[in-house]
Amino acid sequence: MTTTLVTGATGYLGGYGLVEMLAAAPGRRFVLLVRAKEVSDARAKLWQGLQLHLDEKAFLEALERIELVPADLTAPRLGLAAPVRERLTGEVTRIVHAAASLNRRSETACLNVNQRGTLQLLDFAQGVAKRQQLERFVYVSTVAVAGQRQNVCVGEDEPLDFARRDYDPYARSKKFGETMLATMLAGESIAVLRPSIVMGDSRFAATTQFDMVQAFVAMAELPLLPLDPSVRLDIVNADYVGRAIAALHGAETLAETTFHASAGATAPTIGSITTALSRALGKRPPRCVAPLAQPTGRLVDAATALLPRRLSPRILRLLNAFWPYLTNNAVFDNARLGAHFALRPTPFTDYCGDLYLFARNHNFTYPARPYPASAPTQPATVSAA
Ligand SMILES: NC(=O)c1ccc[n+]([C@@H]2O[C@H](COP(=O)([O-])OP(=O)(O)OC[C@H]3O[C@@H](n4cnc5c(N)ncnc54)[C@H](OP(=O)(O)O)[C@@H]3O)[C@@H](O)[C@H]2O)c1
Repeated sequence: MTTTLVTGATGYLGGYGLVEMLAAAPGRRFVLLVRAKEVSDARAKLWQGLQLHLDEKAFLEALERIELVPADLTAPRLGLAAPVRERLTGEVTRIVHAAASLNRRSETACLNVNQRGTLQLLDFAQGVAKRQQLERFVYVSTVAVAGQRQNVCVGEDEPLDFARRDYDPYARSKKFGETMLATMLAGESIAVLRPSIVMGDSRFAATTQFDMVQAFVAMAELPLLPLDPSVRLDIVNADYVGRAIAALHGAETLAETTFHASAGATAPTIGSITTALSRALGKRPPRCVAPLAQPTGRLVDAATALLPRRLSPRILRLLNAFWPYLTNNAVFDNARLGAHFALRPTPFTDYCGDLYLFARNHNFTYPARPYPASAPTQPATVSAA
């Protein structure tokens, strides 16, 4: 059985990618590098993420095609014992790298995980490539690598511009990730997938990610909103991104390297989003007033006092960090996923009301089910053989 190595499968998008790949490539097994001490911890962590998609029976079936390997991208040699690394180098033929630190305020975390961690994974991939075995490396990047842009639809073929200002250390670290990939795996089959803001699923209301939902609800709950209602926000559904990961992973050949998983020209405006959310909230949409370039610390403090108690200062800080994304009116062309794989996002305004109602009804927390009693508890040894 051919083998794909996946990083970040316990995360939000990595989980979407994994379930789509399991379905699309029934003949493959998947080795997941998971940040955990023991295999049993890794399994419990995986269940936390995958229960959004799989019931207990489907999870147990999936485990039959999954090997969980405790690892850490930032540890020397990925934290893998030499014999395990050697075995995996011989087995793996495709790699999907979705792990990252999305902590926009921590340069240290972004540099460690997104640059140093990616460098170490690329070093492993070079070992696979040396054996003429590497069929594909898929890197989950972000549209934020385009840097600070205004009033534009960014093309998929635009080269990275290191002279341009970036939104934050996260965006810059992902830009370096793409550059390292192109350099270290030159001549190999590589694919770079750049999602825009990912929120919710177009097929069901449940989500495990609440920060951005809370931030958007905060905006819709305000009586006055200091944003231009005609500004477009590039938001996509996670199921679209999951299908894109699986498509780039499984395609025999790729005509392009870089693909935006974005809403592009059909991205909704702030006005249409707040109207759709307000409808779900059963209230009037906020009145948009003169836009603010960036909310000041004082404004954030004042807003904290005005907003409902469940909205923590953390959410307001998130809103603050995302402010440039909310004001710059930049969207990202998504023609390639449509042309090559017939993949198109669902408009956020079609499902954001249901997403909001799920989040509110569950107090912005996922109603997690405990680890299945029938699931294995004994660690399957990560053996070298
Ligand atoms: N969500 C979005 O809106 C969005 C938009 C554009 C691009 N992206 C990109 O999509 C990818 C996935 O994002 P996400 O939203 O799924 O993020 P997430 O939910 O925070 O998941 C991040 C994943 O990376 C893993 N990870 C972090 N540090 C690690 C380390 N040192 N060693 C091994 N694994 C580590 C995490 O493992 P633990 O479970 O141990 O924490 C988790 O599985 C990222 O590359 C991100 O840049 C996301």
